[in-house]
Amino acid sequence: MYDIVVQNLTKDYGFNRGVFNISFHVSRGEIYGFLGPNGAGKSTTIRHLMGFSKPDSGKTQIFGLDTFQNYNKILHNVGYVPGEITLPVGLNGWEFIDMMKKIRKISNDERIKKLIELFELNPDGEIKRMSLGEKRKLAILSAFMHDPQVLILDEPTSGLDPIMQEVFIQLLRQEKAKGKTILLSSHVFSEVEAVCDRVSIIKNGKIVDEFPMSKLKHSEDKVYQVKLENIEEAIKLFKIMQKNSYIDDVKQDENKVYVFINDKYINNLVTDLSQFRVSDFIHEKVTLEEYFMQYYKDDIQFEGV
Ligand SMILES: Nc1ncnc2c1ncn2[C@@H]1O[C@H](COP(=O)(O)OP(=O)(O)OP(=O)(O)O)[C@@H](O)[C@H]1O
Ligand SMILES: [Mg+2]
Repeated sequence: MYDIVVQNLTKDYGFNRGVFNISFHVSRGEIYGFLGPNGAGKSTTIRHLMGFSKPDSGKTQIFGLDTFQNYNKILHNVGYVPGEITLPVGLNGWEFIDMMKKIRKISNDERIKKLIELFELNPDGEIKRMSLGEKRKLAILSAFMHDPQVLILDEPTSGLDPIMQEVFIQLLRQEKAKGKTILLSSHVFSEVEAVCDRVSIIKNGKIVDEFPMSKLKHSEDKVYQVKLENIEEAIKLFKIMQKNSYIDDVKQDENKVYVFINDKYINNLVTDLSQFRVSDFIHEKVTLEEYFMQYYKDDIQFEGV
């Protein structure tokens, strides 16, 4: 069962801004990572998924219901941490918590107490005087306090210190163990690597890749960088590898071809490579960060200020 469905979502803000034909789903009990640089379209997708905005085309569903039309029905069982936190500034922390308790019709304080302890939050002060991290903790509390089935988290740990980021990871693991369905947008690779089952990469409003984290994690799944004598050879190898059923994935970058393969097929790879003029052959253990950077390295051009 898919608790979250985004299908062909398009919202065009003009000037190539917005999201274009975004599709993904999150199954019950799964943690799905949403990675992309600033302005890629993560928050836009998430705001549509929350039903705050009407798509130009496509659909967003939670529990099989259209989120724009069924906003009120769905939200009591959804927790949301927004990317940009806006809390009512006239209240102190406790007043905000009480307000959210009433909205969510929570009568038992047990979970709230535990969350306050977990994040070492002191809700005594006025919200307008709280630090960024304290506000973020309040937003997290408000998203998790009613123990919802679905959690939609837009960069939830930005502004949290490393200890609190770790606490948050533990919380996500606990919620996953309980069968919760989680969408996590993040810039923190270690966090995504630690908890996500599947990941998609969004760039310029489009999903450019989607893969299970196991693709990067399992030691028997490797990536080999094959350096060829020239680009033409690399393209030729890339095309052949694309057709090979024993290859998990293949990418080409100038005269290099990256082959994702399970160890048991290594001999097939070596045989196929014998027809090529290989100038280097390196085993790489890819981290999520390196994998992600393949899509962005052309964008990093620092020439000073
Ligand atoms: N309401 C809006 N009107 C016009 N343009 C918008 C609107 N909301 C978002 N955009 C544009 O859409 C693009 C995607 O923005 P979005 O906030 O979804 O990015 P993001 O991936 O969440 O980035 P960040 O990592 O910085 O939070 C940006 O170019 C942004 O300027
Ligand atoms: Mg955002």
